Amino acid sequence: MSNKVLVTGGTGYIGSHTVVELQNNGFEVVIIDNLSNSNKDVLERIQKITGKRPIFENFDLCDAKKTNDFFKKHADIKAVIHFAAYKAVGESVLKPLKYYHNNLVSLVNLLQAMQENNVSNFVFSSSCTVYGQPDELPVTEQSPIKEANSPYGDTKQISERIIRDTTRANKSFKAIALRYFNPIGAHESALIGELPLGVPNNLIPLITQTTIGVRKQLSVFGDDYNTPDGTCIRDYIHVVDLAKAHIIAIKRLLHNGKRNYEYFNIGTGRGNSVLEVINTFEKVSEQKLNYKIANRREGDVEQVFADTKYANSELGWKAEKTLDDALLSAWNWEKYYKKNLYNK
Ligand code: UFG
Repeated sequence: MSNKVLVTGGTGYIGSHTVVELQNNGFEVVIIDNLSNSNKDVLERIQKITGKRPIFENFDLCDAKKTNDFFKKHADIKAVIHFAAYKAVGESVLKPLKYYHNNLVSLVNLLQAMQENNVSNFVFSSSCTVYGQPDELPVTEQSPIKEANSPYGDTKQISERIIRDTTRANKSFKAIALRYFNPIGAHESALIGELPLGVPNNLIPLITQTTIGVRKQLSVFGDDYNTPDGTCIRDYIHVVDLAKAHIIAIKRLLHNGKRNYEYFNIGTGRGNSVLEVINTFEKVSEQKLNYKIANRREGDVEQVFADTKYANSELGWKAEKTLDDALLSAWNWEKYYKKNLYNK
């Protein structure tokens, strides 16, 4: 029997790590990606790690006909993991329509094509951004969904509603939304990792790029928050732990989960401040980071970290890697990647 899984956005950061885990767990993988924020080289690197090159189709899910034709061609797909989306919070504020159009039209096309072709298992890449700044910490799955801080966050909230309503209207359609906290780190092989095009937005690539000399200095955005050291607190989760949660979600869907729509917090349950991250990075990399304290960044929430009890007990999943592991792997990836660039 087929165990083929479609991974949209499978050449991207979280997507590529999930493809590796899927293949290591015996799943056959087909990737759809339009390479808008990733590179095809990733396929070779996945092959180096797993011994298998995933099937790859390059097109945009905003094209409804191509999306539907794809399912006709791959009639044996059993489940879909949907990563493909834009994710830059700041850009979404400047270009909201770009975000609403891409993230929502692709989702609707995908769900329609799945229903038309009788594919009924869906895992969605959601985010803790759906909680905004929670009133109580750690944040549980029952915490209220507050107004999103950005159009990007809005697209995640709306996407979850679209998926929920689809499962309500079609009882045989099953979905799991995974609400990621802050994914960081890279595969231990250092063959795949986060590869932002242009200037990164996220803390860890900015730290590693500054340390290796691509950037001069890191700005810590605010040290006057109401936290022990004044800097913002996040729940940083190793991307490989995160990828593994998707394997469990897929297996749960294929073996009939409890309800036809479920959502889980995927974090470590620990909060770390920006300064703690910097100090840990300096320790594990044995490097000095050039940084300064700067003004707050607009739209940042002060602190957010997960209550992971529900994911731990229901999914039997738990983050296993430490912040040290994650930061060291990010540093190894940066060094390996740079080395490879110079060799070209
Ligand atoms: N930070 C700095 N300096 C930088 C970059 C970031 O101090 O140069 C700080 C931020 O202020 C924040 C922390 O590092 O306190 C983490 O920032 P990131 O940009 O890495 O991550 P965010 O928490 O802002 O965003 C992440 C994901 C989003 C998601 C959001 C939900 O990148 O996709 O979590 O909270 F929406």
